[in-house]
Amino acid sequence: MLRSKLIVIAVGVAISCSLALGQGKKKSDSKGGDVAKGQEIFQQCGVCHNSDSNEKKMGPGLKGLFQAEKMTNGKKPTEANVRAKIDEGGNGMPSYKDMLSEEEKNDLIAYLKTL
Ligand code: HEC
Repeated sequence: MLRSKLIVIAVGVAISCSLALGQGKKKSDSKGGDVAKGQEIFQQCGVCHNSDSNEKKMGPGLKGLFQAEKMTNGKKPTEANVRAKIDEGGNGMPSYKDMLSEEEKNDLIAYLKTL
């Protein structure tokens, strides 16, 4: 019967969808952080940093951070150097080493790259 065939197809589609979703989730856990989550985490940084301009608030505006020649400390804005700044802080920037998990920092950096 056509009806039972349709049910079989529907179940098949549902299973492959959930498999695909499962894979998607695994991917975002491993490397390359989640931009949307990073944006949420950035709310606590936004107190001191503009994300939509280079204008200084408490700290330098972070728009175009990864496109900049240098950060304030003279280092290139690579992922490692930006992460180090977030970990260590200094000169008015709090240290986030123990405040954010590695995964949260990945998400945050993925977000900063979009600025
Ligand atoms: C209490 C205010 C404050 C908060 C909150 C804060 N920062 Fe900062 N941040 C600063 C200041 C001040 C500097 C400049 C430090 C310096 O010149 O060495 C800075 C520098 C930076 C830099 C280096 C920028 C450059 O061009 O050199 C980055 C990247 C950065 N902060 C990211 C973050 C992120 C991400 C967060 C949230 C997890 C955050 N900051 C939260 C005050 C803050």
